[in-house]
Amino acid sequence: MSTLPKILVTSAGGKTGIPVTLQLLGKGYPVRAFVRKRDARADRLEKAGAEIFAGDQYSISDMRRAMAGVQRAYQCAPTAPNGLHFNAVFTAAAHEAKLEHIVTLGQWLSAAQHPSLFTREVYISDILIRMSPEMSVTSVNPGWFADNYLMVLDSAAHLGLFTMPLGARDVKKNAPPSNEDIAGVAVGALINPEDHSNKIYRPTGPQLLSPDEIAAAMARALGRKVSYMDISETMMVKALRALPPSNYSEAAVSQLAIYADEYRRGSFAVNAPTDDVELVGGRKPESFESIVRRTVAARPELRASLSKRLGGLMSFARILLTPALDLDKIQLDRDYVRLNDTKFSQDTAEWLKTHKPLRAPAIANQAT
Ligand SMILES: NC(=O)c1ccc[n+]([C@@H]2O[C@H](COP(=O)([O-])OP(=O)(O)OC[C@H]3O[C@@H](n4cnc5c(N)ncnc54)[C@H](OP(=O)(O)O)[C@@H]3O)[C@@H](O)[C@H]2O)c1
Repeated sequence: MSTLPKILVTSAGGKTGIPVTLQLLGKGYPVRAFVRKRDARADRLEKAGAEIFAGDQYSISDMRRAMAGVQRAYQCAPTAPNGLHFNAVFTAAAHEAKLEHIVTLGQWLSAAQHPSLFTREVYISDILIRMSPEMSVTSVNPGWFADNYLMVLDSAAHLGLFTMPLGARDVKKNAPPSNEDIAGVAVGALINPEDHSNKIYRPTGPQLLSPDEIAAAMARALGRKVSYMDISETMMVKALRALPPSNYSEAAVSQLAIYADEYRRGSFAVNAPTDDVELVGGRKPESFESIVRRTVAARPELRASLSKRLGGLMSFARILLTPALDLDKIQLDRDYVRLNDTKFSQDTAEWLKTHKPLRAPAIANQAT
């Protein structure tokens, strides 16, 4: 039996939860993987050695059971409404279970007065989880994941178009990290709390890229011409609603539109790239092209064919026919908490102060 501490991974079937679980198991740590249900992803984690806990991670009764006998945990709220509820459940159960160390997946944009409710909830959650001095915490706050671009890889493969509302084609606005590199930083902090306690890390890929450079990397990986098309926010929202594999709720989409606005404002480029993937994860950050090549190799359906091209055109038509959403109304209908005095990240002195290029300060200093 392992003498290493047992680690709970929440959202274990998700983008970062899967690699966090697999990397921890690879290092010999016993892992309890919290999944919504037993499916192919849970089977894969179980085969790799994880103990599967299937339940509702928004339920404190389930979370208490999931934390029994655990010493450390990865706190990852799904990209969905009720993030603060999830984080409150997690925080209460973690304090009761007297966990010794937590790694949270937060946000690059995290700011007190942010226009996105999800982002404000992350900011508040980070304060709550740190309220007991007995439990040490590390924040991993990535920006716009490389994985987000992969959502439109089918259209790049079959229509030669990289469509996103990212603004000017030649301005470098993001250094996208892979899910595996974000996980690497979380794992580094989970297994070495003494080095990483009370720190904030912002994993990025190795290079800032412009939309044209992202399209060019897709083109090289796919072996075909790909051009960037700057689309409107309305079109992005329609695409997120119309096409698989996106399963974002209307409420989540209303927040993703705000993140696209932050992207165009250049917030993800502030002091990026960082060296956190190498420093904490102990690995060189993967280039965007390598991430796309891996995806292409794993998805034979991205290979060009006439039927796929026709399918691509039909998907495009489906997007055009999808009704537009009134994002303001969605938030009003859901009684989202709204502030009169909101500020984007770069308009916030506190945010700018904590995004200096120096090693990130302890979060306790963030609120000063
Ligand atoms: N994407 C970005 O660019 C970006 C940037 C910065 C920060 N973030 C942060 O990243 C976090 C999301 O991380 P991620 O992308 O690794 O997660 P994710 O892919 O959204 O995974 C969430 C997982 O939680 C599971 N789940 C949802 N509701 C559940 C419930 N009630 N009980 C049990 N399981 C449940 C989902 O199951 P199913 O798969 O079965 O639905 C899914 O496997 C968010 O907090 C977001 O703020 C994202």
